[in-house]
Amino acid sequence: MNDKNKLFIKALELAENLSYKVSPRPPVAAIVTYKGEIIGEGVTTIDPLIHAEVNAINAAEEKLKSLKDCVLYTTLEPCFHTGNTGPCVDRIIESGIKKIIIGSVDPNPKVNKKSINKLKNNKTDVELIENHDLKKRSDNLIEPFKMYIKNSLPFVTVKMAISLDGKIATKTGDSKWISSEKSREIVQDMRSKSDAILIGSKTLEIDKPSLNARNRTLQPKIKAVVKTAPNKISEIESLLLDNASKIIVYCHKKPNNFESWKDIDFVEVNKKNEKLDLVAILKDLSERGCINVLMEGGGKLLGSLIDLNLVNKVRLFISPMLIGGESSADSIGGEGIEFISQSKKLTDVEVKIVESDIMVTGKLKDHV
Ligand SMILES: NC(=O)c1ccc[n+]([C@@H]2O[C@H](COP(=O)([O-])OP(=O)(O)OC[C@H]3O[C@@H](n4cnc5c(N)ncnc54)[C@H](OP(=O)(O)O)[C@@H]3O)[C@@H](O)[C@H]2O)c1
Repeated sequence: MNDKNKLFIKALELAENLSYKVSPRPPVAAIVTYKGEIIGEGVTTIDPLIHAEVNAINAAEEKLKSLKDCVLYTTLEPCFHTGNTGPCVDRIIESGIKKIIIGSVDPNPKVNKKSINKLKNNKTDVELIENHDLKKRSDNLIEPFKMYIKNSLPFVTVKMAISLDGKIATKTGDSKWISSEKSREIVQDMRSKSDAILIGSKTLEIDKPSLNARNRTLQPKIKAVVKTAPNKISEIESLLLDNASKIIVYCHKKPNNFESWKDIDFVEVNKKNEKLDLVAILKDLSERGCINVLMEGGGKLLGSLIDLNLVNKVRLFISPMLIGGESSADSIGGEGIEFISQSKKLTDVEVKIVESDIMVTGKLKDHV
């Protein structure tokens, strides 16, 4: 691997391992190099909001007076417009940097290639990373942001533990545990990295999950349940356990005594085909800055999301066990399809063995 790609990996690693959430912004990192050595690193910071390129340039300028012989590596095209910060492209031009290597073009129409063109017009040498794997890693970082910018919807990842026969619980509703301990640890990381977690009312009723990211500092901003007619606070009490997130109940009608349900937000949603309108629910989550939503079951809610093409990524932990039973919950409910040709095909499929489980991850639909 050449030096350029090695340095770009450094920027990727910084963005991939941010220890805080920047949603609805994408995680971005940048580095400034001089004669192949890193002299400045930066990631997007929130308080105060400063973009990665500016942080990296500021750090480099403390070490070197003139950056004209430096190279800037950034995982995302610098911003062109004045939003919550000034245009990074102008800061780069002002710094004198004459070469920039970029991972992904910004999908935001306010930016999309405008900064690249401005830099080129300023006689800055602009290169888009060519290595396929590195470009993919860079694009993966901005996928939720792309979904949000283009569709005003969050990027929905589904996580589910299933038996070999596609069941997610026994006929009594028992599902603890289908997946291995290691698989469940992976789920804690997924929770921690998500902005919001969404579940169906039956999962809440039967599993009584807390939905916390166990032993992780970073917790989801929102824990949400879809429940047409919430009646008693005891129905959602498990979500209050050691809670560090906002709890939202998406319902058709708020309960009469909702003011006394402490620390819980109710959001009324219209029905579509007798069920709560999931597009409205996801739009509401994206308006609250949640661009990474983890859907944790059950099968009925997943079926509705799949029918509506609202799922972007799937991660199934397939456990080598058979559950059986016609009345045991299936992994995917909903309307379904008539022909195999209509089936939802996974792309970018990854298969891993996790303890005794087969973990299959794939993307469902290129929405954007
Ligand atoms: N193995 C796993 O990974 C896993 C994960 C999660 C759950 N589970 C198991 O799965 C079982 C529960 O799953 P489930 O499929 O029966 O139910 P579910 O998907 O958890 O919940 C379905 C309920 O959500 C509410 N809902 C509101 N709007 C909806 C919409 N647009 N589409 C679909 N549902 C909507 C409805 O109840 P209201 O009428 O109250 O609104 C509906 O009956 C439990 O036994 C649990 O243990 C297993």
